Amino acid sequence: MSFITFLKKLSVPVITGGFMIAGTTALGLCTVYTDTAIVALVGGGFLVRELIGYAKYNGKEKLNGKTIVITGCNTGIGFETAKDLAFRGGRIIMACRDMARCEAAAQNIKDTVDSNNIVCKKLDLSSFESIRAFCDDFNRTESRLDILINNAGVMMCPKMLTKDGLEMQLGTNHFGHFLLTNLLLDKLKASSPSRIVVVSSRAHLRSKGINFDDINSDNSYDKMKAYAQSKLANVLHVKELAKRLEGTGVTAYSLHPGVVDTELPRHIGVFYNPIVLFLAAPFRYFLFKTASEGAQTTLACALNPAWETVTGKYYSDCKEKEPSAPAQDVDAAKHLWDVSMEITEGKRTF
Ligand SMILES: NC(=O)c1ccc[n+]([C@@H]2O[C@H](COP(=O)([O-])OP(=O)(O)OC[C@H]3O[C@@H](n4cnc5c(N)ncnc54)[C@H](OP(=O)(O)O)[C@@H]3O)[C@@H](O)[C@H]2O)c1
Repeated sequence: MSFITFLKKLSVPVITGGFMIAGTTALGLCTVYTDTAIVALVGGGFLVRELIGYAKYNGKEKLNGKTIVITGCNTGIGFETAKDLAFRGGRIIMACRDMARCEAAAQNIKDTVDSNNIVCKKLDLSSFESIRAFCDDFNRTESRLDILINNAGVMMCPKMLTKDGLEMQLGTNHFGHFLLTNLLLDKLKASSPSRIVVVSSRAHLRSKGINFDDINSDNSYDKMKAYAQSKLANVLHVKELAKRLEGTGVTAYSLHPGVVDTELPRHIGVFYNPIVLFLAAPFRYFLFKTASEGAQTTLACALNPAWETVTGKYYSDCKEKEPSAPAQDVDAAKHLWDVSMEITEGKRTF
């Protein structure tokens, strides 16, 4: 650690403590000083957040001539990822289910980035038919695929089924992306070196393992457990992909983006109530990453030249991290692959 970094790190607790003492003393001394105390505390809070910062991907790679597919990028982390990669000159295929929202997001990026290389394509990950149609069209019309970013996700929804009768969270977050990835593999191999980036979550730590005995949650459904299981499936998918793609030049990465202020909690009523959202806005700023900050680890996995030959690992805050023990279970990764093949090929239905 350099001396400057050390000083910067040391300054955070010193400044925080300083502001807290100043604020508390002012509050205690006299109510006349209340305004000063509030200003000191709020100003201190902003300064501390600024100093702590969040890991940022600082690479300056350009993507001219490269094609990138990003799922679920009309909003949130996916949108910020698409904007950054468009700024680097990449051809961005925005793969979204709601075309009106997708077109509006694409226009927003075009206005900011001045790019004409942004294309909206319909993709509903909760329908194998939609995924096949997307891939048929992509493989016919696009000459290459350099980076596939499996970003779309649904969290803690009530028990719902995909068009193919699968539990919605595992169905969308894992099975949908599993089929998408397999159908795009030939293009990725032909464009190698190329990358597959899967946006998982730290929530995978809450899953003790894939429940192969009740993979579709037919016997019991717990919305938190189902989300955790789907994010564990993301990490296992990447692990198995890395093994199967050895020697092809296609590498795979899974990641936790951080706790990010996005539309993800849309199914958790209390967190997504407009009044609660308004009142909680200042706390959200201090407690959560912005979507742009949340996109940084995805960008690192998609771009970092130092990781070009690294594959099958899990990342957080732009650094490699160790995932949970169940996420390192090679037998579970292989078994999940086999089950996912059966399900996506229609050999096993629900
Ligand atoms: N936010 C966090 O704190 C956090 C933490 C850990 C991991 N993550 C992961 O980060 C990823 C991005 O989430 P976010 O926070 O940016 O959430 P978000 O703002 O809700 O964005 C989710 C995106 O996924 C799309 N999507 C959902 N179901 C889909 C389907 N069936 N087909 C196609 N697209 C679909 C949504 O499209 P619509 O707008 O049409 O619904 C939206 O574009 C997710 O995989 C999530 O699990 C987020």
